[in-house]
Amino acid sequence: MSALSCCNNSAPFRFWNSSIGKKIIVALTGIILVGYLAGHLVGNLLIFQGEHAFNEYAHFLQTMLHGYGVWIARIVLLGTLVLHVVATIQLTLANRIARNIQYQCPDTVTATVSSRMMIWSGSTILAFIVFHILHYTVRVSPTLAELGENNPHAMVITGFSNVLVSLFYIVAISLLCSHLSHGVGSIFQTLGLRSHKTALAIDLLSRAYALAIWLGFISIPVAIMVFGFGK
Ligand code: HEM
Repeated sequence: MSALSCCNNSAPFRFWNSSIGKKIIVALTGIILVGYLAGHLVGNLLIFQGEHAFNEYAHFLQTMLHGYGVWIARIVLLGTLVLHVVATIQLTLANRIARNIQYQCPDTVTATVSSRMMIWSGSTILAFIVFHILHYTVRVSPTLAELGENNPHAMVITGFSNVLVSLFYIVAISLLCSHLSHGVGSIFQTLGLRSHKTALAIDLLSRAYALAIWLGFISIPVAIMVFGFGK
């Protein structure tokens, strides 16, 4: 048996290549991303406590574990995001092929319409994440770069003082929350936790979570752009 065929038959390879294996990976990576969003939101809301609280929090993130913490978090997050996106794209392509074969079945058509929306909102979120990292982490704008180095609070206030930037964030966060309200429910479904009895509670929970994330995140650009917060 060649080394390649041995790898092709290994348990992780077979798990990844099976549809249920990929769904479980999408669900587990989804849990990590959902958790990250909640943590990121709580940290960002410190902006309402003032410059000192927000800058202290940003400083803690940059210096935890002697500066390695932020890199560990970035590597875990990037790996999680890549697995989530690749598995989702492969599942969507497989669904499309199945739909072409079974296009007369109404159930299949409904499932595909919903997953099609997920792939579009997911792609927009990906574009948003790239923009967001260039905006506040890499700080491609010289003004933000200068401010962010010493004062992340001033950087966020200045960043959201640009109406177009704020509007883009609001649209992207809204799409993110539409993705979440469907995605969180799907996690329960994939992990076998959704039943006839729990379906309503799970749907309400996913919508409530998505709404809380939406309200929390958009409150920041709205407060700055509309109410002049922090200026
Ligand atoms: C009002 C909304 C938001 C604000 C004010 C905000 C603020 C920030 C700031 C200041 C940073 C830079 C941290 C640093 O480099 O020290 C950052 C990084 C980041 N944010 Fe956000 N964020 C918001 C929404 C989001 C959303 C909705 C997502 C997810 C889709 C997200 C994902 C990330 C990621 C992945 C990073 C990079 C982490 C890193 O590598 O340092 N953020 N955010």
